[in-house]
Formats: sequence, C-alpha cells, structure tokens
Amino acid sequence: MKLALDRRDATVGSIDASVSGVFQRGEKDESLPRTLQKEDAVTGGLVTGAWNRREIRGRKREITVIHRPDGKGRVLLVGLGVRAEATHETVRRAAAEVVKALKGRGARTVGFRLTSFVAEGVPSDAAAEALVEGAALGAYEFLRYKTKTDGGVEEATVFLGEEHGREEAALRRRIDRASTMTETVVWTRDVANLPADVASPERLGEEALRLGKDLDLKVQVFDEKKLAELKCGGILAVGGGSTAHPPRMIVVEYPGGARSGKTVALVGKGITFDSGGISIKPAPAMGEMKFDKCGAVAVLGIVRAAALLKVPSRVIGVLACAENVPSGTSYRPGDVVRSYGGQTMEILNTDAEGRVVLSDALSYAIDKYHPDEVIDLATLTGAQVVALGDDTGALISNDDRLAQGLLEASKRTGEPLWRMPLTDYHRELVKSDIADVRNHTEIPVAGMLQAAAFLETFVGKTPWAHLDIAGASYTTATTRKWQPAYQCIGATAFAVRTVATYLEGR
Ligand code: BES
Ligand code: MN
Ligand code: ZN
Repeated sequence: MKLALDRRDATVGSIDASVSGVFQRGEKDESLPRTLQKEDAVTGGLVTGAWNRREIRGRKREITVIHRPDGKGRVLLVGLGVRAEATHETVRRAAAEVVKALKGRGARTVGFRLTSFVAEGVPSDAAAEALVEGAALGAYEFLRYKTKTDGGVEEATVFLGEEHGREEAALRRRIDRASTMTETVVWTRDVANLPADVASPERLGEEALRLGKDLDLKVQVFDEKKLAELKCGGILAVGGGSTAHPPRMIVVEYPGGARSGKTVALVGKGITFDSGGISIKPAPAMGEMKFDKCGAVAVLGIVRAAALLKVPSRVIGVLACAENVPSGTSYRPGDVVRSYGGQTMEILNTDAEGRVVLSDALSYAIDKYHPDEVIDLATLTGAQVVALGDDTGALISNDDRLAQGLLEASKRTGEPLWRMPLTDYHRELVKSDIADVRNHTEIPVAGMLQAAAFLETFVGKTPWAHLDIAGASYTTATTRKWQPAYQCIGATAFAVRTVATYLEGR
C-alpha cells in the first residue's frame, strides 16, 4: 500500500473515503465535536443530522459512512472509545477496521484527518504512524492463490490540516519509517504464508539470497554437505526424514550503521513443515504446521528492516531450516544426536524438533560471531499457546536489560510480549540419563519452559532472549475474529516490528 502525507484537509474532495476518528461521547455531549465541522460542511449537514439522532456514538469498532452530496467520495467516522484511554494501538486498530470495511466497496484511496485521532495518550506523531501502519497491515491479504479478488484500498494518506501543518518534516519521517516497517511485514507474511511444498528449506535459502542481492547483504546457504562438515547434527537429524527437501542453515549479515554498534544475532526456527516426524501429530490442524517456519522468516524480515532503517547494530540472522516428516531416514525416539559444538541430545520425541535444530544455530551464531546479544524466534511449543493465547508472545531471558528493551519495544508496536521465568526446576527436567540434555520429558508441566531450559544450555553466558511465538505467529479463520483488525488470516509476521524497533534503539 502506498502511504503518504498531505498538508491539506481530508475533505479536499480527491479522496474516495475521508476518515475521522470520533471519541466516545458522554450522555450529555450534545454538540458536534469541532474536529467534525469540516466533514459536516462537505456533507451539507448530514454529519450533524446523524450526530443529533445519536447514530454516532464513538464506540470502538463503530463505523458510520456518509456520502457527500457533491459526489466526491465518502466521509467515514470511526469510533475510538473513551478518549482518556486511547493509545496508539487504539488508532492502529481503527485504521485497520476502516480499510477492512472498505474492502471491495469501490474505495481505492483513503485519507485520515490526523487531528481527530490525537488525544492525551496519542501525540500527533504516534497517531500518524499508527494510522498508516494500521491501514497497510489491515489491508493485507495473501492473494497468491486467489484467481478472483475484490479490490481494496491501495493508498492511505495522513492529512495534516492547519492544526499539524508545521510538524510536516517530523511526521514525514515517521510515515517513511512506517512504510519500511509495514512493507517488511507484508514481505514476511508473503513468505511465511507459502505452503510447505513451495517454501522448502532450499526455497528459503533462495529467498534469503534474493534479499541479500536487493539489499547488498552477505548471505550464505549451507546445504547438507556443508552442514555435515560443520557437524550440525541437530539440523541434519531433523531434516534427515525428508528426501525431497533437504535441510539448510542460512546466514544473513547486515554490517551495521555505526562503528561502535554492538553485534546482535537473531536465530530463527525454520521448520517448513512439522508433521511431528516418527512421533507423528494427529491429523486435525496439521496443516497449520506450514507456519512452523515463522520464526526463521521473521528473522529474515527483521534483517531486512534493520538494513532499510540502517540500525546502528550489526545484525546476523541464522535460520535453521528443515522439514520434519516421517520416513525410513527419519531420526527416531531413542537416538542420541550431537549438536554443533559437541553437546549431545537424547531424542525422546521427534515432535520436539525445534529445540534440536535451534541448538546448532544458536551455538554456531555464538561461536562464529561472538554476538553481544542473541535473540531467538521460534514457534516452539503448544504449551506457549496454552499459557498465553494466540495474541501474546512469550519472552524468556537470562538478561534483564535485553528483556526490558524488548518489552519496551513491544509496547510501542502493540505486539504483546510477556516475560516468563526460567528456574533450576526446568533446568533439572531437561537433563538426560545417557546424554547431556533430553528433548522431551514425561512430566507434562511447563512445556514452554522445559523447551527454553533446553535452549539455554546452548547459549552459555551470552545475553539471550528467547521468543516463543507459537500462538501469535499466525491466525486461523476461527482465531482471527478475536484479533485486532490489522492481523489477517495466516502468518502475522509477529515480532518483526518489535525486534526491528528494539534494534533501532530509540
Ligand atoms: N511446532 C510445534 C509447536 C507449535 C504448536 C507451534 C502449535 C504452533 C502451534 C512444536 O514443534 C511441537 O510440536 N511441540 C510439541 C513439543 C512436545 C512434543 C514436547 C508440543 O508443543 O506439543
Ligand atoms: Mn514439533
Ligand atoms: Zn515444530
């Protein structure tokens, strides 16, 4: 979607739908808010009429459409709820609700009157950014396999009007940044939504190489032979079951903007399809496991955003990609596998494969790049979804500063993260009788934290944050209903905006 800024008023008459926010009105609010007076004028008083009939109440998700008698498009009023409670997230959601409501209704361009979205908790720059983000993300659909489509909004403009004209330069910077972010989210969603027959580990390697070419980044794709040389036993074991789609480890490097910048390694779980392997999953909902690569694809997205936003840190993305399917060459329960770096893993359930592939990628990233921080992103456990639902990601970290930085970034992006504890109890659980660690236990508690304790044994003292994004990384037709309108059915690219914002370090 094209995102733009215009110094004029949203009622100029060249926009298919000009949108204003309306905060919830109290029982005694009789007169039309000042921010709607221009809308009232261009509709010949129709806004006042609707207001007086109490058709417009400013409740969340309320959308009122009024057609201009001069035929120059529509005026849309979107409810924002109680003004004192409004945040940038309120505005982001409202903008997305608007573009979703306009889908297939003959509106190509939408314009937002900035001043009507500003409140005590939403300064103009935050409102401008949230408006275009919400519009661009809310309009997203995965259309690759649709032979027929309904046209949607293609261009969203923030109108400053006389109220905000003087802030033009600062607001333009925020809108440019939001364009980069949302375009990256769209790119990430498009790759993550590809089904497993297309998005094989090799294909993810090709996507990374193409990205590297476009953005002038160094990219390496390690095939099975190279993985064997590197002794990446985890990725080779998990990927060994698929003769059609062999595993890959992909390394992408963004050199960093500032000389003094730190090195941050991002490690992603890239299981292109997780059938469970020999410990096979039940059939219902198994199709969702094409989204088990979302961590790895998010890492590519974050590196893309980091390069385009020219963040100060050097950023290394390491993607552990494999297809987990049963066959005569699959790894089995009972096997012992040696990870890069030598640590041994007893495999007790081949469906706990994410931690096994991540063991190589984490150790490799730390060994080769000596990063100041490691952040891994993984659709790691069903237990994460049980614990936090499908809107919130879990954060587990051995470093309070890193954790705090990610939590603060998450507040800015509206992607909820919740920190979870890691204790010696979890560490005890993952010890193996015959190897260094085991990938599964018979103790059916805190599965998310057992997985985290397993990963922790591969990061040593390096400041580390683990994002288990199993729930929030994709939505289904059923869960999408309860999500904010800027989400979509399928991959959400969860954590891309948050980690990219963290790397900006503002
Ligand atoms: N990819 C799954 C986790 C998952 C579940 C992601 C639901 C997204 C939605 C992971 O590989 C897995 O199968 N985990 C098992 C681990 C168990 C065998 C210890 C799980 O959570 O059931
Ligand atoms: Mn699994
Ligand atoms: Zn998995």
